[in-house]
Amino acid sequence: EKGGYDRFMLKEIHEQPKAIRDTLASRIKDGLVDLSNEVALSPEAIRNIEKIHFVACGTAYHAGLVGKYVLEDLARIPVECDVASEYRYRDPIITDKTLVVVISQSGETADTLAALREAKKQGARVLAITNVVGSSVAREADDVIITWAGPEIAVASTKAYTSQLIAIYLLGLYFAQVRGHKSEAELKEIISHLGQLAGLAEQVLEYEGKIAEFARSIADNEHLFFLGRGLDYAVALEGSLKLKEISYIHSEAYAAGELKHGTLALIEENIPVVALATQSSVFDKMVSNIQEVKARGAKVLGFAVEGDSELQKSVDEVITIPKTIDLLAPVLTVIPLQLFAYYACIQRGYDVDKPRNLAKSVTVE
Ligand code: BG6
Repeated sequence: EKGGYDRFMLKEIHEQPKAIRDTLASRIKDGLVDLSNEVALSPEAIRNIEKIHFVACGTAYHAGLVGKYVLEDLARIPVECDVASEYRYRDPIITDKTLVVVISQSGETADTLAALREAKKQGARVLAITNVVGSSVAREADDVIITWAGPEIAVASTKAYTSQLIAIYLLGLYFAQVRGHKSEAELKEIISHLGQLAGLAEQVLEYEGKIAEFARSIADNEHLFFLGRGLDYAVALEGSLKLKEISYIHSEAYAAGELKHGTLALIEENIPVVALATQSSVFDKMVSNIQEVKARGAKVLGFAVEGDSELQKSVDEVITIPKTIDLLAPVLTVIPLQLFAYYACIQRGYDVDKPRNLAKSVTVE
């Protein structure tokens, strides 16, 4: 059942190219995204959306954070992103022009379901991104985009997250098209990059040995930092969560520009820092942040995009992410971070698939 792998999590990490392909399949027609079979919102209703709220828990919430950047960038719709347990109790401002997008692998998370019900009660249209056909979230939402990741068994979510990102890109591209925000040529260009992601994810999986080595080298540390800007910050949060969930190493993800407003005080000799620098618009800023932590003795694993020779000079080890457009990089960047958490956990001798105190799906509040 583990398909030759020792643990479900490793199997599911390796299933990501397939999950990406399956989630894209049948949703691209003549080079453009077509979600009209699943999203019943009329073109007029899509044009009338005034704001989007992404609502979810855990890893699915981190997908929503990527969703904020993606929908704002592609469709220029203002987006807020909340954890469901906050959203349901904070009396959010909802109108009939609000689209609430709930994201849930299982479709059964109690807080997410309660947030969905609250949003509907207040008149929002609710779209669900879920991995389980017929789940409570799928049944109660107005529109559903299924992520075709297949069953995910390991508590720490991997392939569900990357497929959620794919669903978010599809949604962003579809809305951008209907709202006329991007030209057909621009959309087709992005979609062609989207089509290459599964193959690039296969390439990233080949770094497993190198990542395992770095993970082993830091496994005795009790604290670690993840840094990034923009989309890399959203991915850093997910990488940090993965590590905490299964290896029990305390880590923090920081927006790199926020470092000097407090966290820099915690950077001392030999503290491991994972620095993500895949976003070209803030690349130089990231390099300065890396230099700041290096100057204080941090041991830095940097993530750079293929072809970049600049970052290598400032870090101790480098992982090279194959070239894609900045917007799509999170799908590739997160994979080595999942492997990093996995091998840190193995090195420390913990149960990867069933971390202590956590459940795959939390159906009570
Ligand atoms: C948590 C799981 O309890 O629920 C996480 O341990 C998961 O892995 C989160 O991300 C949300 O779950 P779901 O099924 O709503 O995506």
